[in-house]
Amino acid sequence: MTTVLYTGGTGRMGRVIREGLAGRYDRVVLFTRHSPEEPLHPGEEVVIGDLADLDGLTAAATDVDVIVHLGGIADESTYESIRASNIDGTQHVYEAARRAGVRRVVYASSNHVIGFHDATTVLDESAPLRPDTFYGVSKAFGEALASLYHDKWGVESVLLRIGTFRPEPEDARQLALWLSWRDGIELVRCAIENGPVGCQVVYGCSANSDSWWDGTAGWAAIGYAPQDDAADHADGIDTDAPAPRRHGGAFTAADYEGGIW
Ligand SMILES: NC(=O)c1ccc[n+]([C@@H]2O[C@H](COP(=O)([O-])OP(=O)(O)OC[C@H]3O[C@@H](n4cnc5c(N)ncnc54)[C@H](O)[C@@H]3O)[C@@H](O)[C@H]2O)c1
Repeated sequence: MTTVLYTGGTGRMGRVIREGLAGRYDRVVLFTRHSPEEPLHPGEEVVIGDLADLDGLTAAATDVDVIVHLGGIADESTYESIRASNIDGTQHVYEAARRAGVRRVVYASSNHVIGFHDATTVLDESAPLRPDTFYGVSKAFGEALASLYHDKWGVESVLLRIGTFRPEPEDARQLALWLSWRDGIELVRCAIENGPVGCQVVYGCSANSDSWWDGTAGWAAIGYAPQDDAADHADGIDTDAPAPRRHGGAFTAADYEGGIW
């Protein structure tokens, strides 16, 4: 019997992952601010709540095996709103996991924790953090928090440094960082089911020929074998456009305030 709790399960990524894994787990709890517009899949139940509510999260996490933490602001924003949803919100998720005895958190981290690395450098899981936004800093905080909760209280984590999760790659940068829908579903499935993992960084991308990441170690740790290659979907992408200089692309600009999604 496996119970999975999603935060952010009604967002763009959550809807695709839930659809892909529908019916796979005995019980699925959606901890969400708003009722889902889409019909629920078998085994799903809804708990309305905000990541600000530690007690509500803890109650929702009762008898849960794995939390898939997708909730939060998914772009650059003001520091105050990032702090509330992504920093405090993620601390509440980990604290709820500890209090409720949840075995593992699958955490939606981001390429923006390493966004200031030069695009010519292929990075692996040991790359130093170089966040490119307050958003990236919040994800780096989440990774550090995961390390603490594992070392001190034994809560496992899979830290998914997601590239760009889209049905198709849309620009030159996404040729390097694309995560197809099919591979993204399989990535989350592996992160939920395989292991033990300790506290493991895993790059969230497809098997892209022009990848900027070497995700071999993390992929082996959770048994993830991506199938898709952005290069097979490159038609229509302007490859003559100036190449991005940094992993984080537009997020690294001094005046970037969000909204590129
Ligand atoms: N989609 C991508 O390409 C991508 C890339 C890198 C990382 N990520 C990360 O993956 C996760 C999912 O991304 P997405 O594209 O589905 O984002 P999204 O914005 O579509 O979904 C995020 C969800 O979190 C919810 N949320 C925000 N603040 C909340 C709060 N305080 N309390 C409760 N719920 C709250 C939102 O209502 C929304 O449903 C995010 O954490 C994002 O940072 C996504």
